[in-house]
Amino acid sequence: MAEGLQLRKFLAPEFIFGAGARELAGRYARNFGGRKVLVVSDPGVVRAGWTADVTKSLEAEGLPYVLFTALTPNPKAEEVMAGVALYREERCDVIVAVGGGSPIDCAKGIGIVSSNHRHILEFEGVDMVKAPMPPLICIPTTGGTSADVSQFAIISNPLERVKIAIISKSVVPDIALIDPITLTTMDPYLTACTGLDAMTHAIEAFVSTASSSMTDLHALEAVKILSSSLIPSIRNPEDQELRSQVMMGSLQAGLAFSNAILGANHAMAHSLGGALDLAHGECNAILLDHVIDFNFDAAPERFERIAQAMGLDLRGIPVLQKKKLLIEHVRSMKAQAGVARTLAEVGVGVDDLKQYSEHALKDPCMATNPRRASKRDIEVVYEESL
Ligand SMILES: [Fe+2]
Repeated sequence: MAEGLQLRKFLAPEFIFGAGARELAGRYARNFGGRKVLVVSDPGVVRAGWTADVTKSLEAEGLPYVLFTALTPNPKAEEVMAGVALYREERCDVIVAVGGGSPIDCAKGIGIVSSNHRHILEFEGVDMVKAPMPPLICIPTTGGTSADVSQFAIISNPLERVKIAIISKSVVPDIALIDPITLTTMDPYLTACTGLDAMTHAIEAFVSTASSSMTDLHALEAVKILSSSLIPSIRNPEDQELRSQVMMGSLQAGLAFSNAILGANHAMAHSLGGALDLAHGECNAILLDHVIDFNFDAAPERFERIAQAMGLDLRGIPVLQKKKLLIEHVRSMKAQAGVARTLAEVGVGVDDLKQYSEHALKDPCMATNPRRASKRDIEVVYEESL
């Protein structure tokens, strides 16, 4: 069937973008009819002062709240369940998440369990969340994960050392208050990891088998914006205009991937992150050039448009050379961002790869990868990333 005739839907939450958006949390919590708010954040975001800005806005509306920060990067199933216990004990009826992907995914997990009354690990996969969550307001403080606009929640199961992906319309937040000023307290490593995660979202969404003209628009724009702003923003951390561009790039990538889904890069990164508790953005960055190398021949025209959006002029060049130039460009971007470790350097051994490949193959993100991959294919991509 012609591409333009295929059924595609596009889902996005209401969002407000701009300086000061974080201070609207109280007003929205009130609009959603909240009487008691569970604020989910993490200790680093609290230290940076962003959580206090949000709780002040709740106080200004006379809304009582309880703060939950007992979570770690790559939020774990038991942390979600502890958050649910607090939500119930305190009789909360609205959730506000302030932070990067970890607090937002944890908040989504708490929302899912509080209305569906089962353990969080029972919701793995696509469309497994039946009852809607309580109202969820998200204030992202990193320019990358886009959990604030996506229908994804990624939760770690430390017992089996895997991550589960929950993909459902029910986990799209009710509103995202996207305030680029919050990015100014990110250190260079976090800026680089989250920015490269956003870049990976845009690339994977653009070559996904579930892409559409609506997701293409956002994916290509994200590649363009992030290509021109990410490295300068790492070098000029206080430049609010650059931070705002990175945040916009991340948002556009989020709108694209939440609807077009992702691919092998994320499937493999989830598998690594579940086993080693590594930063999600770094896992993606380590694999990015190698996954492009694997996928390129399945969608050469699409990758050429990505290269163009990155600022490369590949006109009149043989296709093999195009592939080489794109991969070199991505490697140089990683090096400039200061995220250039290999899998071996983050502690992965060759003996681990069989198991990682098995988990990656089962990840729902694998279904939309442009090239079909066998377990051995995945293993080879991991090997090349060692
Ligand atoms: Fe990601």
